[in-house]
Order: sequence, then structure tokens, then C-alpha cells
Amino acid sequence: MNLSKLKSAATAVALAAAAAGANAQEPVKVGAVLEVTGPFASIAKQIENGMRLYMARNGDTVAGRKIELIIKDSTGAQPDVAKRLVTELVTRDKVDFVVGFGLTPNAMAAAPVVTEAKVPTIIMNAATSAIVSKSPYMARVSMTLPQVTMPIAQWAVKNKIKRVYSLVADYGPGLDAEATFKKTFTGAGGEIVGEVRTPLKNPDFGPYIQRIKDAKPEAVFIFLPAGEQGISFMKGYRERGLAEAGIRVIGPGDVVEDDIIEAIGDSALGAVTTHHYSAAHDSAANRDYVKAYTDKFKMRPNFMSVGGYDGMHVVYEVVKKLNGKLDPDKAMEIIKGMKIDSPRGPIQIDPNTRDVVQTVYVRKVEKKNGQLYNIEFDKFENVRDPGT
Ligand code: PHB
Repeated sequence: MNLSKLKSAATAVALAAAAAGANAQEPVKVGAVLEVTGPFASIAKQIENGMRLYMARNGDTVAGRKIELIIKDSTGAQPDVAKRLVTELVTRDKVDFVVGFGLTPNAMAAAPVVTEAKVPTIIMNAATSAIVSKSPYMARVSMTLPQVTMPIAQWAVKNKIKRVYSLVADYGPGLDAEATFKKTFTGAGGEIVGEVRTPLKNPDFGPYIQRIKDAKPEAVFIFLPAGEQGISFMKGYRERGLAEAGIRVIGPGDVVEDDIIEAIGDSALGAVTTHHYSAAHDSAANRDYVKAYTDKFKMRPNFMSVGGYDGMHVVYEVVKKLNGKLDPDKAMEIIKGMKIDSPRGPIQIDPNTRDVVQTVYVRKVEKKNGQLYNIEFDKFENVRDPGT
């Protein structure tokens, strides 16, 4: 065959492919908005790793279509930047899914854009209760603060803790955590002996910690966004001798999450928290997950990574069930009620609220093989977001 014949044969093949199904060979575009740089970069890293691990383990082609991941950097808690990036993803890149969002303000800013553009959106971490109610095209695979906080309030009551000081980051998830803890704990006769809200990016907890010590509570209830602030708080807790003063650390699991627990060191020992995921979760699926993640990224997975992993699983399921022919309303119908086997155990997307329903575990920081872990010892099953 000479060159011109070859060329016309190739054109004929291309035309036939186009006629067979215009979209069949186009990639499915997944646009992720993450805090890739700036003070919350550790959150984005875990979410991105989780997504990439899911793709590596499950192949990058579903129902004949390649899955293309486009990552945009919101650079931190920057709702204006996040809104612009989501707008670019839906108008210029024409993505089929929007995913990601470590932080609440960024997820909130995305809601009107994905609603208008009708793009299915999977929240992989941001955990203020109200987020998914802001758009019928949003669903969440991570957690809500009320969902993971109510169990620790119940645990505190059951364990005869009576006097608690509350410290939370002063924005959506912190306010949700504070409201949920107070309602459940004081409702059962507990007393809040002091409370403080700290700036979203707070470098030094020393002065707050001294006030907590002076108030002589039995425990400090704490919510800080995952990452460095947990290390900083626990450093102050150690330096100012709160453990010796008999003040325990309780709260949702973010303050002793798997990414920072070794950096905190032994002062984390004994902290009791409730959360949906621990790298020490005792199941074959989780052991496989932790091994695959650690082999690939040379670090320990935390709950954020599982949000990325499971969120990508949802995307794959939708593409599979629609046989590659994507439609936003059909996608949302598939997502509603979807059940997934997560490394944390089974989860479901509530068909009415599009929020995650899951087991919340009670855990205590202990040493295992010389390393610090959140060891699960009790659980609350089928927990929904109780709202605030
Ligand atoms: C949030 O901004 O919603 C958020 C961030 C970090 C967390 C939990 C919630 O650890």
C-alpha cells in the first residue's frame, strides 16, 4: 500500500469510529479542586494519593473510556479561587465530574457553579454538615462533623466525664463540632467549663492551652483541621503539662490523624477520639489498602486518602453503570443509595440527603509495633449526619 492509500484507509477507520459513537473514544474528564499548595497541602496530598491509588489498582479505562484526572490548585481556604477553578473546569475543560475539596469554604463556593452547570460533584473531605444540601449535584463520601462528633459526646457521658473545655477552629466544621458536642454532652448533664474558637490558621496554641489548664476540666474537646495544627496543639498540651494535670484529649479524630500522629509523639498516647477511619482498622481490605498505599507513596494513609479513594470508586461505578454514556441526572440517580466497600468498612450514600452513612469507631492512641496508632475498640453503626 502506498502512503496516500494508507492515509485514506486511516481516515475511513476514524470516520467509522466516529459514526459508531461520537463519545466512545473521548476520555471521561474528572476535575479535582484541591489545596495543593499552601498551609493545607498535606490534606490535598492524601486525597490525590487516594485517587491515584484507586486508578492504579483498577486501571484507567472504564466502559471503554479513559479516565482523565485534571487537578487544580485552590492554594488554601480560598473560596474565590475555588469558584473560579470550578467554573473553568465546567466551561473550558467540560469535565464530567468535579471532585476533591479538602476544605469547607472551597466546597461551599463550588455549589452554585456545579448546580448551574449540572455536573455531578463528589466531596472527598470537606465536612461541614450543610455542604451537600447546597446542590442537588453534590454527594459526599467522607464524613460530617456532627456525624463523627456525636459518638465522642456519648462516649464521654458514658465514661463519667463531667467537666469539659471546648476548643475548635473558628469556621464551619469547628462550629458544627462545637454545637454537636455541647448539645449531646450538656443534654446528658455534662458541663462545658470554658470554650474558645481559634483562627482557621493558628500557629500557636500556648495561651489557649494555659487557660484550659487553669479551668481544670477533666477533658479538652478539640476539633482542628487535619495537619500541622494538631501537632502544634499537642506540643503545647505536652509542654504545659496537661496530661499530668489529669486533662484528657477527646474529640473527632482529626487532631490525632494518621498523617501527623508520629510527629506528635508519645503525648498523643491515651487520646480517645471517634472517627470513620484509622490506618489500624482491622480488616483484610484495609491491610491491603495500607500496604498498597505505603508501598506506592512511602507514607501512611489517613482518612483523607480514603475519601479520595472512595470518591474515585463512585466515579468508576457511575461510568460503568452508564456504560460510558454519561448523563448528569442519571449519574446522580446512580449515586443516590450507592453502596461501596471502603477500606474503612461498608459505606452508603443516603438516597435522600446524598451524604455518607457509615460506622463511626471509638479509638484510643496506643503503640503497635513501636508506632503510634488509633486503635479502634468500639463502634456506632449506620451513623447518619444528625445535622446541627
Ligand atoms: C473542612 O474544612 O471541612 C475540614 C478540613 C479538615 C478536616 C475536617 C474538615 O480535618
